[in-house]
Amino acid sequence: MTNVTDQDRVVIFDTTLRDGEQSPGATMTHDEKLEIAELLDEMGVDIIEAGFPIASEGDFKAVSEIAERSKNSRICGLARANFADIDRCWEAVKHAEKNRIHTFIGTSPLHRAIPNLTMDEMADKIHETVTHARNLCENVQWSPMDATRTEWDYLCRVIEIAIKAGATTINIPDTVGYTAPVESADLIKRLIETVPGADEVVFATHCHNDLGMATANSLAAVAGGARQIECTINGLGERAGNTALEEVVMALRTRNDIMPWHTGIDTTKIMHISRRVATVAGFPVQFNKAIVGKNAFAHESGIHQDGMLKNRENFEIMRPEDIGLSGTSLPLGKHSGRAALRDKLETLGFEVGDNQLKDIFVRFKDLADRKKEVFDDDLIALMSLDDDDDRLQLVSMKVTCGTGGQAESTVELEFDGKDVIATEHGDGPVDATFKAIRAIYPNKAHLQLYQVHAVTEGTDAQATVSVRLEEDGMIATGQSANTDTVVASAKAYIHALNRLIMRREKAGPGADTREISYKDLT
Ligand code: KIV
Ligand code: ZN
Repeated sequence: MTNVTDQDRVVIFDTTLRDGEQSPGATMTHDEKLEIAELLDEMGVDIIEAGFPIASEGDFKAVSEIAERSKNSRICGLARANFADIDRCWEAVKHAEKNRIHTFIGTSPLHRAIPNLTMDEMADKIHETVTHARNLCENVQWSPMDATRTEWDYLCRVIEIAIKAGATTINIPDTVGYTAPVESADLIKRLIETVPGADEVVFATHCHNDLGMATANSLAAVAGGARQIECTINGLGERAGNTALEEVVMALRTRNDIMPWHTGIDTTKIMHISRRVATVAGFPVQFNKAIVGKNAFAHESGIHQDGMLKNRENFEIMRPEDIGLSGTSLPLGKHSGRAALRDKLETLGFEVGDNQLKDIFVRFKDLADRKKEVFDDDLIALMSLDDDDDRLQLVSMKVTCGTGGQAESTVELEFDGKDVIATEHGDGPVDATFKAIRAIYPNKAHLQLYQVHAVTEGTDAQATVSVRLEEDGMIATGQSANTDTVVASAKAYIHALNRLIMRREKAGPGADTREISYKDLT
């Protein structure tokens, strides 16, 4: 819960569903957004920036529904500096018990040139729009976009105007990831000391990771007096991403001796939400990513293992349990029953109903038949598999590979209830298989990303495959896991196609296509 009277409390503002989701390829479906919002709410995020309501009908619906469902978090929507954006934003967030309008305008010389406003004209616009937002909502955040490249005097002037017009939070974005820790701390400190009325509002920091300093810059801003950090799960976001929630939260917790501030985050929920965001956004987490990477708690080398056995604190500054990783991970096998499966899924953060359990149990048995031991990561991969309602379903496939790289793939798909078979040749089994799928379901989607990860170790390990497709500006991602990499690839490709079909179907009346390009904003 937000408690701004406690001077050491840092408010966590999560923008995974807005700044994170605007990253090309990270588009989430409506239901996925609701799921992520629920997880953010449960983990104790103070403010959820749920979207940009005027950007599309889909964003508006998602923000409205998240607002209706929120239990603890304040729900925020983004709006540019005009009345239409602000009104639309209010229409969406007003359903929440606690809401916020976040309005912004680019104040640096480069960004002022976009709407071609003079400094005075922009100052007037800020006064008008923040006043308008505040007349609708008692909680208003204002951001001078590209603040870290805005002239000092002008920055102070516009912040003072926004405070006088009723802004309750002033966010200082480092839009292009340009600042550095010393400068970040100094900027916030000087603003708080200089701008009249600054002590009556909360200062926020919003950093991008272009130079790999987003976490350091955010923490430095807190040292300078900021009491709200804007961040995303896994650091999701455009270009090099935003500040990673898990990094700032765990840094404050682990080094509380030198950073005496705290958040309200239940850190044991970090791992589960990290995995879900990676899956639904189609952005796998890099193996050595701080806190949530697969290797973050793995101690492979002999010396490290020896040290760990003597005393885990030799090499571990955080406990895996603190972020929700189960310390001991006993694998399941083909003799494990439904109760054991349910129990394990619950410890991994998945709550499943009886019908869902039945379905997962069938998939689990199938996997356990192919794989001696089913590890936690295998189950997590199993939980993100395809949907029975999909229009395209894989029925069977057969692949033959030659030594020269040429391969032949025969794929049988069910498309709208009808079985169709195609055989194609290609440069390797995956290429041949994708060609066969395209022969059955012709499309001009461009393959933007194809990534394979081994879920666990050994030659019987499952491979998770991520595929990202782009067609006429629409992006869809798909994932799948299987002990056979080519089958996982086919399923991931089909999963992405199904999502593309779904998005295209929705692009009828009331389409969920973006009317506003986020590229215009940053
Ligand atoms: O990076 C940025 O400047 C933003 C603003 C819209 C706050 O995301
Ligand atoms: Zn941003």
